[in-house]
Amino acid sequence: MQINNSSIVIKGIGSYMPKKILTNKDLSGIVDTSDEWIRTRTGIQQRHICEEGEYTSDLAAKAAKNAIEDARLKPDDIDLLIVATITPDMPFPSTACLVQTKLGLGQIAAFDVEAACSGFLYALDMASAMLETGRYKNAIIIGAEKLSSIIDWKDRTTCVLFGDGAGAAVLSRTKESNTGILDCCLHADGAKPELLRMPGGGSQIPASASSVEQRQHFLKMNGREIFKFAVRGMERAAQEVLDRQNVKIADVDKIIPHQANMRIIETIQDRLEIPKSKFYNNLQYYGNTSAASIPIALDEAYRKGLVKHNDLLLLLAFGAGLTWGSTLLRWHKP
Ligand SMILES: CC(C)(COP(=O)(O)OP(=O)(O)OC[C@H]1O[C@@H](n2cnc3c(N)ncnc32)[C@H](O)[C@@H]1OP(=O)(O)O)[C@@H](O)C(=O)NCCC(=O)NCCS
Repeated sequence: MQINNSSIVIKGIGSYMPKKILTNKDLSGIVDTSDEWIRTRTGIQQRHICEEGEYTSDLAAKAAKNAIEDARLKPDDIDLLIVATITPDMPFPSTACLVQTKLGLGQIAAFDVEAACSGFLYALDMASAMLETGRYKNAIIIGAEKLSSIIDWKDRTTCVLFGDGAGAAVLSRTKESNTGILDCCLHADGAKPELLRMPGGGSQIPASASSVEQRQHFLKMNGREIFKFAVRGMERAAQEVLDRQNVKIADVDKIIPHQANMRIIETIQDRLEIPKSKFYNNLQYYGNTSAASIPIALDEAYRKGLVKHNDLLLLLAFGAGLTWGSTLLRWHKP
């Protein structure tokens, strides 16, 4: 909700994908699966995977560099850095601090946000609110993941779904009102953490020989329950911002949902009664890149000319936590 006569806009957008590609066929040589099963159940054809020695902070820094260049800003202009990730380089220091150094930024505020696949929208709302105070001028927010580092490559029910990558956006204030970020809603329900989590490596199950033996340091998921929650969560999040802003779904020009599964997205399309053409999807090529998926898709859609000046965009996310949310924005790139 705009509270004064200025707006927060996405001034620059960028992404970066690691070069190595893992196809469904490649995966069928690792676990008992097939290209046909993965395509029909998820829509995914391939995913990008980091090389050895390539970390989340590397992907994040490259995506952020592209976004800062796109905004035609210099690193010195950035005074706030937020990284959304569930695969930090290490538990601490934050990946944001590591990215700050890799980008050669000044001693600016830098921290991580952990809201799983909803992380980019959480970061976006936080950065917008911080910019609105007037204490910051230009924020870089990054969704970056090296999910290949927490995937159990022996578990066919999860390893086929995820990929690595990063997307970033520069947020800035503009004097024009009623443009840019119009509204955000964020939610969480922590009652069922077991539906999607990595149990090991924290204070509850610190790393030990037994935690490694029990494969506790890998992502675990109840796919069917997450599927149902994803549809409900994104539908509710869409409705909440649209109702609050008195906007009809038909007035939205482009919808960018979290890229997890094409069947989830098609179910949302049916339930919200929106034409397929209004959605931008690229999960075929990248799989689920968690916090990175929305900015990667937004960057691609923009570069393909599918997002134009003054278009009304709706971003939708859901993820572990459980978390979910949406952002309504008018595309205004100075
Ligand atoms: C994971 C998901 C694709 C599974 O699809 P599904 O239609 O629910 O499939 P099921 O789990 O019912 O499994 C059906 C069968 O396929 C098998 N199967 C699971 N993964 C497989 C794979 N990669 N290859 C081949 N067979 C597989 C199962 O073992 C099961 O076999 P069974 O009937 O002999 O027991 C789906 O539940 C999903 O997308 N959920 C949401 C996940 C998600 O978005 N997570 C990220 C949140 S941010």
